[in-house]
Amino acid sequence: MNLLNGIDYGTPKSESENLVTLEIDGITVTVPQGTSVMRAAAEYGINVPKLCATDSLEAFGSCRLCLVEIEGRRGYPASCTTPVDPGMKVRTQTPKLADIRRGVMELYISDHPLDCLTCPANGNCELQDMAGVVGLREVRYGYDGENHLRMEKDESNPYFTYDASKCIVCNRCVRACEETQGTFALTIDSRGFASRVSAGQKEDFIDSECVSCGACVDACPTATLTEKTVIMMGQAEHSKITTCAYCGVGCSFKAEMKGNEVVRMIPNENGGANHGHACVKGRFAWGYATHKDRMLKPMIRSKITDPWKEVSWEEAINHAASEIKRIQAKYGRGSVGGLVSSRCTNEEGYLVQKLVRAAFGNNNVDTCARVCHSPTGYGLKVTMGESAGTQTFDSVMKSDCVLIIGANPAAGHPVFASIMKRRLRQGAKLIVVDPRTTEMVKSPHIQADYHLKLKPGANVAIVNALAHVIITENLHKPDFIKERCEVDSFEEWAEFVSLPENSPEALEPATGVPAADIRGAARMFATAKNSAIYYGLGVTEHAQGSTTVIGIANLAMATGNVGREGVGVNPLRGQNNVQGSCDMGSFPHELPGYRHVSDSTARAEFEAVWGCTLESEPGLRIPNMFDAALEGSFKGLYCEGEDVVQSDPNTQHVTAALEAMECVIVQDIFLNETAKYAHVFLPGASFLEKDGTFTNAERRISRVRKVMPPKAGYADWEVTMMLSNALGYPMNYKHPREIMDEIAALTPTFTGVSFKRIDELGGSIQWPCNDEAPEGTPTMHINEFVRGKGRFINTKFYGSGERPSKDYPFILTTGRILSQYNVGAQTRRTFNNMWHSEDRLEIHPDDAAEKGIKQNDWVGIKSSAGETVLRADITERIQPGVVYTTFHFPESGANVITTNSSDWATNCPEYKVTAVQITPVNQPSEWQRTYNRFNTQQERFATTDMVPREPAATK
Ligand code: SF4
Ligand code: SF4
Ligand code: SF4
Ligand code: FES
Repeated sequence: MNLLNGIDYGTPKSESENLVTLEIDGITVTVPQGTSVMRAAAEYGINVPKLCATDSLEAFGSCRLCLVEIEGRRGYPASCTTPVDPGMKVRTQTPKLADIRRGVMELYISDHPLDCLTCPANGNCELQDMAGVVGLREVRYGYDGENHLRMEKDESNPYFTYDASKCIVCNRCVRACEETQGTFALTIDSRGFASRVSAGQKEDFIDSECVSCGACVDACPTATLTEKTVIMMGQAEHSKITTCAYCGVGCSFKAEMKGNEVVRMIPNENGGANHGHACVKGRFAWGYATHKDRMLKPMIRSKITDPWKEVSWEEAINHAASEIKRIQAKYGRGSVGGLVSSRCTNEEGYLVQKLVRAAFGNNNVDTCARVCHSPTGYGLKVTMGESAGTQTFDSVMKSDCVLIIGANPAAGHPVFASIMKRRLRQGAKLIVVDPRTTEMVKSPHIQADYHLKLKPGANVAIVNALAHVIITENLHKPDFIKERCEVDSFEEWAEFVSLPENSPEALEPATGVPAADIRGAARMFATAKNSAIYYGLGVTEHAQGSTTVIGIANLAMATGNVGREGVGVNPLRGQNNVQGSCDMGSFPHELPGYRHVSDSTARAEFEAVWGCTLESEPGLRIPNMFDAALEGSFKGLYCEGEDVVQSDPNTQHVTAALEAMECVIVQDIFLNETAKYAHVFLPGASFLEKDGTFTNAERRISRVRKVMPPKAGYADWEVTMMLSNALGYPMNYKHPREIMDEIAALTPTFTGVSFKRIDELGGSIQWPCNDEAPEGTPTMHINEFVRGKGRFINTKFYGSGERPSKDYPFILTTGRILSQYNVGAQTRRTFNNMWHSEDRLEIHPDDAAEKGIKQNDWVGIKSSAGETVLRADITERIQPGVVYTTFHFPESGANVITTNSSDWATNCPEYKVTAVQITPVNQPSEWQRTYNRFNTQQERFATTDMVPREPAATK
């Protein structure tokens, strides 16, 4: 249960604009129509006892504790299920009501263990509180009769316990799983006295459909569903609000602490992105932050074949700085560069790019957005003028038609998926464009109206075919286009998409999708009142990634679906701060706020504040850095919080490039795969150990708050500062708030942003936030596009160079799953491994039969880049001719297979389309054997006795 989130009003807020006035206990109250009597009372400080009601769920009316008397009505209606009426006169406290409530409580308590003093919920239990509120003094019924007190606990979930003996069958958990999470994993089994909560078909939680989001645990008013950490550690002593460090949803949490130890993370009901909900990662999988694998000592070595030498912070920083200076003196100023982490805060990202531009003196800075959403930046900028998503997550609640392209929010953005599913259950239409049958296509009470199960690499063809139908059937919005867009560009585009070659029928061989389905989907999208597009890496990580983003923007503009709630173009950005790292100027061609380095006015502003001269030419992108390293001109890399060896394509190319460098400096919390190729290791700090901000996929800037001291002595921003100072470029910030003040002073879209302002606005701000929008901008492009008029651009379809051939007859596509996160460095160090302990290769049954592959067999996968081996998972989720895997485990080597093929505009790798051959095998690939030997050696180098796991001496 979660009583620490403030007042529980019992039932959800009514959104009605009509007000109703009534009288409760002699007080005149005015509330929106549709408000329950319980909530109306609570809003005026009158608390009616309750057990089955909570304000995050619709009223259920089962416990009968909240009965009231209403003048002129017979009996005692439940205040949680009774809506207010004008002139109603309600009494919440009478001797008769007190009697009834005591009787109800007596029955509950007579079948409840009286172990309050040793119960983990003691002091934080609604049943205990209500017993006190109703004045229960005795229980007349003994324990001799039938009861539930000896029921067994279900301990199968690694994060929470289900103790059925404490269940009061209030149904809150069942409703939370349905309404809040949308998984429908729980039921009330049996009837009457025998009824109890059941996961699935009387399964253990771990074997059921439960995805361990924790919503039921938060909703439970007793200790029936309780976090195991609370059982172990007891109730928290203090708490701080912070932001999840996993995905781009950016859920707000209350970190509940005992001293410097986290007891639990409670989703914050005031969180603008999550409204009190969470997923298994943010809610439970935070143990990595204090895992024994954390590297807490700075280390250096001359060669990667040497063991690490533990050194003081001072020696490590001085060594790193002298190596950078040596390399630049020998090979030139452009021979070094840096990578900004999308896991770190905005302030830390800003400092790394500043270090590169001001202290290294070049623009060789890039970030992992290069390999995920750089096409979003390009495609949305050229069409609409701003490279970020247009809406809030809540906007989907006003959508009538949702088009998801190349994204699986249920796995990648789970809390947003829950919001979206709620809207879909209310009746919004759904079109999914995906080569796989994802959870968004079909799950409890969700069924896509159209699933366009396209061949990987055919996104542009699908988008063009949809546009063809919209234009040729006159389903576009001429008024919107005339008023808001460049009409010439529209006419040129309309002519292009109307060409017969762009019809669904002509493109059917390329898309693999029946033309009639595309026609139906196009009509559904164009004719709904509000249609919204959500897309992910299944759009961007293609050779034509930028083209598809442009095509998506074209579709939204042509149908007038931009500039209000319920519509828009919504890139589901992957990592917690990937939006922020882009905003902070982490690309080689852009200063903070997306101002091009060739813009002399922008450069002059930064030069004046930074006290240096800036390069006017864009620097190297990540793949260019690797190519230059192999050519011999790029020799040094400062890599903060990014694991390019595991995350970037063509692993062997990446490792060869790192081996060709003379100084690789890795700053991370773990000895990640890239650190195994490093010469300097600087310990990083987890999100719990620092102050700052993250920016989520809605452009929402949220505070990250330090809840424990940095385990290695310094937060990441302090380490970057020390490195800069050692290089001779002074940085002297006392607190991240000063860094944000500098960002705000130099970035027009951030002018109004400060830590103080974020606090004033309740915890977050959506940029742009400036004089024109002092409270931020939830919806973009309302009256006009950021670039003025929206611009249509033709999107000619070219099939991917990675296409099936005699040698490589299958297409490999990749994705992620709910329980693991990206390279898995964090989630692999948690109990989340119980759900997914290895990457598997999904194969269609027909292909498996033809190849003689059975479930769990080892399968060799070979591409032009390399070869690896994974176990088979035979499933109809995937279509014939296509195989699929995740990439969360380094030993899987999924990126050994992916090639250097990349987006034409941004170099974003084409992870989603690789031509491969598959064969049954009985041993790991050559690469895997080499990896295992190398990995064992590197782990030994870092775990000798000379590397104690204690903090190094700090300031
Ligand atoms: S943890 Fe989430 S998915 Fe699992 S039963 Fe509870 S609410 Fe449902
Ligand atoms: S497990 Fe908790 S929330 Fe669910 S019915 Fe029992 S007491 Fe209520
Ligand atoms: S949805 Fe994303 S931000 Fe929210 S808890 Fe899960 S991982 Fe964290
Ligand atoms: S709180 Fe109203 S019936 Fe339970």
